Amino acid sequence: MLIKEKINEIRKDFKYLEDDPEYIYFDNAATTQKPIQVLEDTVAYYEHQNGNPHRGAHKFAFSATEVYENGRKKVADFINANSANEIIFLRNATEALNLIAYSYALNNLKKGDEILISIMEHHSNLVTWQFVANKTGAKLNYLYLDDDMQITDQEFDSKINKNTKILAITAASNVVGTMPNVKAFIEKAKNVSKDIITVVDAAQYVPHHKVDVKDLNCDFLAFSGHKMLSSMGIGVLYGKEELLNTMDPFLYGGDMIEYVREDESTFLNSPQRFEAGTTNVGGVASLVSAINYIDKIGIEEIYNIESELCKYAYEKIKKLDYIDVYTTSNSHRSPVIAFNVKEAHPHDVASILDNYKIAVRSGHHCAQPLHRYLGVNASCRASFAFYNTFEEIDSFIEHLEDVRRILRIGSK
Ligand SMILES: Cc1ncc(COP(=O)(O)O)c(C=O)c1O
Repeated sequence: MLIKEKINEIRKDFKYLEDDPEYIYFDNAATTQKPIQVLEDTVAYYEHQNGNPHRGAHKFAFSATEVYENGRKKVADFINANSANEIIFLRNATEALNLIAYSYALNNLKKGDEILISIMEHHSNLVTWQFVANKTGAKLNYLYLDDDMQITDQEFDSKINKNTKILAITAASNVVGTMPNVKAFIEKAKNVSKDIITVVDAAQYVPHHKVDVKDLNCDFLAFSGHKMLSSMGIGVLYGKEELLNTMDPFLYGGDMIEYVREDESTFLNSPQRFEAGTTNVGGVASLVSAINYIDKIGIEEIYNIESELCKYAYEKIKKLDYIDVYTTSNSHRSPVIAFNVKEAHPHDVASILDNYKIAVRSGHHCAQPLHRYLGVNASCRASFAFYNTFEEIDSFIEHLEDVRRILRIGSK
């Protein structure tokens, strides 16, 4: 099937297009739209299987437990984890990264240690490490980007050293699209010291790529369901089991304890150790359905469609001399294009585009240090998904000219 026909088939699954087929949704990196199959499966869980998991001796507690624990196995298979015990369900990638900071880093880092991150990190993988550095006295180091938004080997080699205790890096930038060779960086880090803990922020990677945590050999990996077709409020932390079981709990309460006495308690192993309180079973049902949907289309096909869309948009927008583009030219990238219309404020650009029924994001995209590094305060971002079309990109490109006309830029 031709790529255009394939996209048209896929579009039938998305209800937002029924509401207004002309509206162009290019804010997929913030959150994706949800296919009807995922919405139906989520409702079906609440209609037929809803209960509080783990702690009941009745049909509904059993069915919720089954949905939840089967979901854990599904996610473990999806990212090729060794065991379901390595999958912790949380609210989102942000919570997953904070769990590592609180439960691992605060207890293990000290003055003299170093944390290595990149300048293109989302605040959730940046402010979190600033906090750890401030609390422990460890030093926060940055990997900077070359002119094409890549981290060179030279840059990496000059920053990693025996004092580095944590390497925390994005697998795909939500602004410049860069997909660093995380596997190679992890290997290099482990060669410097096998004790370096490696953290991969895969929030913008998992929706577009097959992830194999065994092959990556990372210690931790975080992602959010809502960026990959599922409902909000469900996210995943992967962690190596032996490491997780050495860590303190993150939150304390029900469902994570072994024995509780008046003055002390003992805790279950991972994953229950890190899942205090009632969990988001409906979210897990939704995430499982999203994975089924992705599997049905095929993650390689998704990457292929999105790469073609992004390439098409990139080549068109690069030709416009009144636009500054920040996205890497490397076609191995996440499907995002960050840009500015010269002399225009990004919020004005986004508002005008919205009047033409085009949704793009504007602001710093939770990446202020990156924007400062690029020499701008903010940018616009168009981000694509496999249910977008080439015609939508044509329309977006055409209306950029209208933005200039309305703002009277370039007119004498
Ligand atoms: C690269 C990256 N990491 C982490 C996050 C945080 O995701 P969430 O807000 O779902 O926790 C985002 C969200 O945009 C992101 O783009």
